[in-house]
This record gives sequence, structure tokens and C-alpha cells, in this order.
Amino acid sequence: MPAYKSIVILTGAGISAESGVDTFRDKDGIWSRVDYRDVATPEGFIRDAARVHEFYNQRRRGMATVNPNAAHAALARLEREFSGSVLLVTQNIDDLHERAGSTNLIHMHGELGKALCQACEQRSAWSKDMSALSQCPACGAVGYLRPDVVWFGEMPYQMERIYAALAGCDLFLSIGTSGNVYPAAGFVEEARLHGAHTVELNLEPSDGHSSFNEAVLGKATEIVPAFVDGMLSAR
Ligand code: OAD
Repeated sequence: MPAYKSIVILTGAGISAESGVDTFRDKDGIWSRVDYRDVATPEGFIRDAARVHEFYNQRRRGMATVNPNAAHAALARLEREFSGSVLLVTQNIDDLHERAGSTNLIHMHGELGKALCQACEQRSAWSKDMSALSQCPACGAVGYLRPDVVWFGEMPYQMERIYAALAGCDLFLSIGTSGNVYPAAGFVEEARLHGAHTVELNLEPSDGHSSFNEAVLGKATEIVPAFVDGMLSAR
């Protein structure tokens, strides 16, 4: 394996699947049961805030019953032991990467464990249920909190930092994502444009599979630790 210096890793729901977190577009995935327009758009929140709160309350409660798996642990190990830089960009709103030990981490679609106040625009840690009567811990306003998650039609977080890292990386890994949702689905092209080697690690070829230089197919808990072992032993 060539001596890489800078790695950017994109993860999606597939990396958390074996922890027991539902994916979106697989058979029986979240979007097969729920219409995304009802729970993951600003318009859905205006229409029925209680419905949206209940959807994310359920998912937030679910976090207490799941744990990081071997794939999350392998990426944390890569960050700790790799001689160059490792930036992990996740589309996931769960906290399994940080619980596994990753620290250089961007939640580009937000976090279940945070609340965003639409009155003062502050973000606060949030672990309990949220409702239209919840009070902002920062400014005290009641009725202005929403889950700090990025909905369809909204701009994902920290895009400038992500594009700068993509332009400077020599290895781009995409793990457990279907490649359906932009801008994340376009990261592979951006990295390739700047000369990075690109690898997809997924259960099956994603929608954008032809954009990658290499594919490793299989379960995340098997292929990610093996890939990280290979990288670290090639030093
Ligand atoms: P998807 O549900 O679209 O895709 C999950 C991918 O993981 C699929 O390609 C599966 O084949 C793969 N997969 C499933 N189990 C796996 C396993 N055990 N090991 C490896 N791969 C596995 O989820 P995302 O691509 O993350 O956004 O979805 C992207 C965004 O769409 C989400 O962040 C969310 C959603 O709508 C918003 O809500 C804004």
C-alpha cells in the first residue's frame, strides 16, 4: 500500500447497521416506513412539529440501547495510530464514532444529542425528549428548539472545512453509504479531482460505485477492521 499522508473518511448509516441502528434505504430501512418529507424537511416541521419531535425522540432514546461496533473501533484506532492526518466526516446523527474514540470528527448532518434554538441560534447538549414546550438551555426561550439535525433542503455543516480536507487528501474512503444524498455523494469526485486514491467499503456497490478506484464489499464489522489492519501494518 502506498504511503498515504492524509485520509478523509466519509461514513453513512451502513457503518452503524450492525450496532442495531436502522439504515435509510435498505429494505425495511427508515424511509420504507416513514415519508422523509414529514420528518426530515423544514416544511414537515412547520406542518407538524410534534410528529417530527416524536420521530427524533424515538431515535434519541434508541441510542441508549446500542453500542459502537468493530468498524467504529477500527476507525478510532486508525486515527490514533496512523502517522498522517485522519478526518472522519459522518452523515450519521448517532454518537457511535465518538463513543468508539474518534475525535477528529465532523457530523455533517448534525447530531441527535444536540438541540438547536431557533431564537438564539445556540446549540446545546440534549439527551431527553424534546417537544414544542422545551426550553432552550442557552437563552431560556420556550418553544424554539428543534433537533440539531440537517434536513433536506438545508446546508450540511462545516462544508468549507470538508472541501479543504478533500482537496488536500491522498486517500478517500467511503464506508456504508448508498451515495444517494448530495453533497456527500459528490465527495468522491472532489477527492479524485485533486488526485486522491478512492475506495468504497460497502455491503454492495453504491449508486456512485463507478467513481471509485477500488471497492471492498462486505459487512462493515469485517471489512473495515481488515482494511485498517492492512493500512497500519503497511507502514
Ligand atoms: P442509506 O440507508 O442510504 O445507505 C446505507 C448503505 O449502507 C447502503 O449502501 C447499504 O448497502 C450499506 N450497508 C447496510 N448494512 C451494511 C453493513 N452491515 N456493512 C456495510 N454496509 C452496509 O444511508 P446513508 O447513505 O447514510 O440524511 O444515507 C445518507 C443520508 O440519507 C442520511 O444521512 C440521511 C438520509 O436521508 C438526512 O436525513 C438528511
